[in-house]
Amino acid sequence: MYSVGATHASQYGVVMTFGVCDVPPSADPSTLDLRELSRSVAPRIDAPAHLRDAAIATWHARMINEYASSRVFEALARQLDACQLEEEADEVSQFAVEERRHGVLCGAVVEALGGEARGGLFDAPPFPEHRDASPRAALLRNVISICCMSETVAVALIGAERLEMPEPNELRALLTRIWADEIGHARFGWRLLEKLSPSLTEAERDAVRAYLPIAFAHLEAHELAHLPARGAPPGGESLGLCSGLDARALLRETIDEVIAPRIQMLI
Ligand SMILES: [Fe+2]
Ligand SMILES: [Fe+2]
Repeated sequence: MYSVGATHASQYGVVMTFGVCDVPPSADPSTLDLRELSRSVAPRIDAPAHLRDAAIATWHARMINEYASSRVFEALARQLDACQLEEEADEVSQFAVEERRHGVLCGAVVEALGGEARGGLFDAPPFPEHRDASPRAALLRNVISICCMSETVAVALIGAERLEMPEPNELRALLTRIWADEIGHARFGWRLLEKLSPSLTEAERDAVRAYLPIAFAHLEAHELAHLPARGAPPGGESLGLCSGLDARALLRETIDEVIAPRIQMLI
């Protein structure tokens, strides 16, 4: 059913199958069941009993969100293809595979903690077509929103979470694997924006600019909905249970100091 890629020996002397080479889309679009595959890559985690339930809930929610991100990249790949950017479409199709793999890896943490890597998958929201803009401006609106905004925020938040994990252990290695992919997803967006921006007509540039306040508002609302307005439980950092307050501050800084100025420079 699933094909699992070559295993590699981790620096901790354990063979970790982080190389899950393909995870097919769920046959039932409303249900996700990654138990089999996630168990095969479950890391060793030493979790205090009082943090276990919170950690399972956090990683379970991540499993669903990561897996669901693959649908966004599949749609973006189709849009790139329609704009005759075949090479970029292939690259983004690979991002969809990576997001499903992230779902499996987050599910692996759920399984390692004693939970179950299965759950309901929410309906995919409609992919914005931006019919009021030219195909290239519509494409850049989505690339900015998905890659330059959401993925750049993911890089910042996961990077901080990774730094707060006290020990170099299997959980941090798993998070590092996900983080490395998210960096690739963000860089793709910035590169494409850099590549296409100089050839935009003024009307196209205006169409992209007009969308930015909507995209920033959506980004903030979406991220804040997932970041609790409270601190971390004591010892939670070792399980990826970070302070929502710190994460909210980092979100603000990432938007104000990284994303907004760079977009302003490029558009
Ligand atoms: Fe991801
Ligand atoms: Fe991503």
